[in-house]
Amino acid sequence: MESNHDTIQSSTTSGVAGYEDPPEILQPNIFPLSWEYKTQRLEDIWEASRREYWDPAKLPWETFDPNHYTAEQREAIAYWWTLLSVFDASAPPVFAAALIHTYELHEEDPVRRAFFSVTRDEQNHEQLCGMAIKRLTPGGPLDYQPQSELGERAQRNAKWLYHNGARYWSGYKRAVEHYSLAVLFSSFLMGEVAAATLFQHMASHSSEPVFKEGFRNVGRDEGRHMAICLTLMERDYPTISKEERAIVTKQIRAGYVFLSGVLFEPPHEFWDLPPDFIETQRLCEDVAREAGFGIATYEEKRENWRRAMLNVKSVLQRYDIPFPAIPEVGIEGDEDVSGINYDEIIPVF
Ligand SMILES: [Fe+2]
Ligand SMILES: [Fe+2]
Repeated sequence: MESNHDTIQSSTTSGVAGYEDPPEILQPNIFPLSWEYKTQRLEDIWEASRREYWDPAKLPWETFDPNHYTAEQREAIAYWWTLLSVFDASAPPVFAAALIHTYELHEEDPVRRAFFSVTRDEQNHEQLCGMAIKRLTPGGPLDYQPQSELGERAQRNAKWLYHNGARYWSGYKRAVEHYSLAVLFSSFLMGEVAAATLFQHMASHSSEPVFKEGFRNVGRDEGRHMAICLTLMERDYPTISKEERAIVTKQIRAGYVFLSGVLFEPPHEFWDLPPDFIETQRLCEDVAREAGFGIATYEEKRENWRRAMLNVKSVLQRYDIPFPAIPEVGIEGDEDVSGINYDEIIPVF
């Protein structure tokens, strides 16, 4: 083999026709291919993702009777699944784009598989949202005929959520090519910490068995996604540049603003919403909570979100990356961040 290769090389350099090497491949490109392997921890997480795989269609749906709820309760619970889906159902295309990016950057094989597993998990989360919405409000969110006044308001809110989600998606497509993988990890970490916090709460506070089990499974997936981000930070952050550190700080603040839409309440900094939006959302949440659906109260959300942010803060501190001020939940931070470009938000679940 080796000597054959040498022959080809020397023929090329000696200019014998018919034995030329092809032109160099212009990057970024997924070619040339290689299967480099460096990070064992990612291999362990990949194995866990296969072991812990679950099928949303096999959850105990037969125990779920939508008629157990009033029309208004069904609409209110479906609204929350719709809100969740803005984050969880945009995740498959978000991570699929990141997966392509890892190939173009010629990342090691376990990193590419890590992003593949996240894409696959997120598709399950998306399916779960769809299955719940379909059973509660057939044709929902948009092709369902609301049966209560709150249902009508919830449907209008859903349209506003989509308007904002669409703005996020346009920005993300630009951002994913523009930023290094190191910046992407920290933004994803923010989303995964948020998600793990959220699903833990939902699983322990919901009374409907099928939702409880679904939330538990999703929460376990999000824990693995978090571990992927932490592993990659451990690999790359000791050598992260000063410019990238500053971008991470800004993206963390942007992540807080974007993810507050579901973790807390959507701030005006990014969210373009009508004046009655938050009131409608609060009403839906009250009705859903009374029906046994485990949505946190305003105070609980603030506390959960604060604790999640403090976790991210302690991770960034390890690498000397300043944390942004988040006065909304009482975190002083190392820096007041201004000049965030909300046309390029990265974080999602
Ligand atoms: Fe997710
Ligand atoms: Fe996730």
